[in-house]
Amino acid sequence: MSSQAPDHPVLPRIQVPRHPQWPTLSDTQKTALKNRIQQMMQEKNAVLVAHYYVDGDLQALAEETGGCVADSLEMARFGASSDADTLLVCGVRFMGETAKILNPEKTVLMPDLAATCSLDEGCPADLFSDFCDRHPDRTVVVYANTSAEVKARADWMVTSGIALDIIEHLHARGEKILWAPDKHLGHYVQRTTGVDMLMWDGACVVHEEFKGFALERLRRLHPKAAILVHPESPDEVVDQADVVGSTTALIQAVQQMPNEEFIVATDDGIFWKMHQLAPNKKLIPAPTAGEGATCESCAHCPWMAMNALQNLETALRDGTGEVFVDEAVRRNAVTSIQRMLDFAAQRR
Ligand code: 13P
Ligand code: SF4
Repeated sequence: MSSQAPDHPVLPRIQVPRHPQWPTLSDTQKTALKNRIQQMMQEKNAVLVAHYYVDGDLQALAEETGGCVADSLEMARFGASSDADTLLVCGVRFMGETAKILNPEKTVLMPDLAATCSLDEGCPADLFSDFCDRHPDRTVVVYANTSAEVKARADWMVTSGIALDIIEHLHARGEKILWAPDKHLGHYVQRTTGVDMLMWDGACVVHEEFKGFALERLRRLHPKAAILVHPESPDEVVDQADVVGSTTALIQAVQQMPNEEFIVATDDGIFWKMHQLAPNKKLIPAPTAGEGATCESCAHCPWMAMNALQNLETALRDGTGEVFVDEAVRRNAVTSIQRMLDFAAQRR
């Protein structure tokens, strides 16, 4: 059973920014900029933790400097295991906040603190907390893509890489779930596990643009392609997938499956890593249909696009973009995150 609660609050309209236009750098300028960043990273004992959706130059720099490029789960794990004094988080704000919550003694810097996420924006902590108060019989499970305050109200935090395992575990214990904020991921998890789930009405503006009918047409043109789908996508897209999973799971599928062609329904930032690991495979972006779109319908997250070498340098040089989390909020939020990390460690 899965349902939208009749007492669900009315949510504020999400303001989606336009994609920033970064000036093109010549190879010489780029090398000089990367060298300056590396120099400052050494001076500050800093490490770069980047998500697969950010610009390829940032992913490359993270790898060249001993940092990590990963999904949200691995980013959290890496930050917690690193002995750097400063974590440079290239991604969106919930990723920086998670790093700070797990590592309060470290400085956490982000290129732009305005890089948020439609799921985070669509789940204001006060409305969410009231909603939880009205359903005290349910275990509160929130997706990583939420604010520190929302995590502080939750029993568990999950990422797309471990959501199914954790919900299966809770379902087996007979628990009923209050899930927030992504209704598409929630619906996928609910359909797969059969758990009783009350759902928040949130969505990712990027993944919501993948359309089932357009994908069906594209599949007919590429009958041998495997279909890879991130579970933030709508049901009619998920239902056509050969693999549904986190960004890491989709990258592994490209490496491991015998197919030569893949249709990929997730943010196109992921192609940098897929090309790097499987250069001979043909990658086809899943179609978006922009009519009435809340974002630019381009399969690229406008908030992830706020990360660039230029503002990473500024953050490091001037200490701008430092992430702070109120200590009382942090102490509550860490419980839900740590539960997930402990669960993941046991599963390993
Ligand atoms: P992953 O944890 O699968 O990398 O997803 C994060 C995200 O924001 C996807 O839109
Ligand atoms: Fe949020 Fe979607 Fe951007 Fe991921 S792609 S950070 S879920 S808006």
